[in-house]
Amino acid sequence: MTVSFKKALVTGGAGFIGSHLTENLVAKGCRVTVLDNFSSGRRTNLTRVAADIDLIEGDIRDPLAVERAAKGCEVIFHLAAVVSVPQTVAQPLDSARVNDLGTLHVLEAARDAGSGAVVFASSSAVYGDDPGLPKRESMIPKPLSPYAVQKITGEYYARVYHELYGIDTASLRFFNVFGPRQDPSSPYSGVISIFMSKAVAQTGPIIYGDGTQSRDFVYVSDVVRAMIGAATTKAAAGQSINVGTGTSIDINRLWRTIAGMAGLSNVPRYDPPRAGDIIASVAAVDTAESLLGFKTEVSLEDGLERTFRWYAASQTTAGAYSQKGSENGD
Ligand code: NAD
Ligand code: UD1
Repeated sequence: MTVSFKKALVTGGAGFIGSHLTENLVAKGCRVTVLDNFSSGRRTNLTRVAADIDLIEGDIRDPLAVERAAKGCEVIFHLAAVVSVPQTVAQPLDSARVNDLGTLHVLEAARDAGSGAVVFASSSAVYGDDPGLPKRESMIPKPLSPYAVQKITGEYYARVYHELYGIDTASLRFFNVFGPRQDPSSPYSGVISIFMSKAVAQTGPIIYGDGTQSRDFVYVSDVVRAMIGAATTKAAAGQSINVGTGTSIDINRLWRTIAGMAGLSNVPRYDPPRAGDIIASVAAVDTAESLLGFKTEVSLEDGLERTFRWYAASQTTAGAYSQKGSENGD
């Protein structure tokens, strides 16, 4: 399958989701420029496509760097961000320079380059602790962290750039994304990456609270399909769209499933719940279905198996993760 555009910019393309997106675009015959400052991304995430892309080490806080990177790009996928919620809590101003001003630099670069479309990586964090389920795009955002404020601000700017300047901007609210290459090294890394690394190391994890809290986990290749769909669907312009599966699993069952893959039967340690942890999260998926014709394809079980195989193949003796695991974890 090919895409209708020939040249794209992926900001944050050396990161977890951005590197999968970049590989997929290259496989579809698209020329890709990646702009990344490697603050959380890695060059090794792009090893497979290194010869086929233009990799620019640069910062979205630098408007000239973004402008240069965007030249000639018909589509911009904007994923570069300070992604750690606690980091934005500790450093609201520094993170706003990246997540707010950096996003404006990307939108301005799109205007300057005459790009037709921008797809912005937003987050289900914009819903905060709204108790309503499933989370619908029509709910009033209740951001609870600088990160969530910055994401909803990016969405508003994206919409305004569509209305004022006619750029087809779409904001995708990712739920809990998982898959190969997700970095498990911080205590605030995605729970699946942490559970995978523990299972592979044959140790038990910490579960915060009683483990009955639940999340909508969406596999990274489905997120990539949604992003490409949003870039090529006129009806997505100016919209905010959930990207999730519409189903959820609780954290106890998640660990039991992963432990089963590793042949582990040990009991997790239970610690007090994290401050601000939400009890339940699940996406309403009808907007993605009606606007993008999007449905997830990878089941949780299949995604977990692929991810487990990748972590198992990639674990080095130092406990870090290399790129030995194959693309699909098989
Ligand atoms: P990641 O940390 O792997 O990727 C982020 C990339 O952005 C990294 O490669 C990093 O080096 C780069 N970057 C950070 N600051 C930069 C700057 N100033 N200039 C240039 N590059 C910079 O994280 P990810 O999980 O792949 O997240 C990608 C996007 O998706 C982010 O915008 C994140 O907020 C969003 N998102 C992710 C999830 C999830 O579950 N992973 C959920 C919701 C939203
Ligand atoms: C995730 C995002 C966050 C976003 C939010 C929106 C990540 C890393 N975080 O947060 O950016 O604001 O979605 O909904 O993707 N847990 C454990 N043990 C662990 C780690 C986590 O029990 O070792 C629990 C957490 O307490 C939480 C659940 O697992 O209840 C999921 O945690 P996590 O993967 O960090 O994601 P969210 O908190 O949902």
